Amino acid sequence: MSQSYDRGLIEDFGRWREFSAGMWAWILHKFTGWILIGYLFTHIAVLSTAIQAAGGDPAAYTDTLQGLESVLVIRILEIGLLATAVFHILNGVRLLMVDLGIGLEAQDKSFYAALVVTGAVVVASVPTFLGGGVV
Ligand code: HEM
Repeated sequence: MSQSYDRGLIEDFGRWREFSAGMWAWILHKFTGWILIGYLFTHIAVLSTAIQAAGGDPAAYTDTLQGLESVLVIRILEIGLLATAVFHILNGVRLLMVDLGIGLEAQDKSFYAALVVTGAVVVASVPTFLGGGVV
């Protein structure tokens, strides 16, 4: 026997209030995956531009990178990148486990655990990124 449901207008983005943990996990995984791709392209563009600008002088290249690292906004963005990567990796491993049938009964809990561990790693990284003088 088949059943049908009136699910309302699915394309209405205002419906985020109805999201379950699994929906947030899905959205965050997509979001972080594509941010990482965006970062990868930006990273290669910035480094190859710095190599070009240095014109074969390693010291000039190091100067450019140290200049970038001295900008507070860049260090804050790096913390965001760490958060993005750590969450994507933890949630990705979680998804692979789910695909293998491991922990099917604890999917919400493992998603929350991924968020908490990501938060802990980010907090622990703050002295490194904002402590100054590391570069
Ligand atoms: C250990 C590292 C990683 C793990 C375990 C991992 C795991 C996964 C998994 C399991 C999926 C598929 C999720 C699904 O079933 O829909 C996925 C999707 C994706 N990952 Fe990763 N990933 C990792 C690193 C990366 C990196 C480094 C990048 C980018 C440079 C990346 C970009 C993406 C993108 C763009 C998607 C597709 C998102 C979408 O659904 O539109 N991942 N990842």
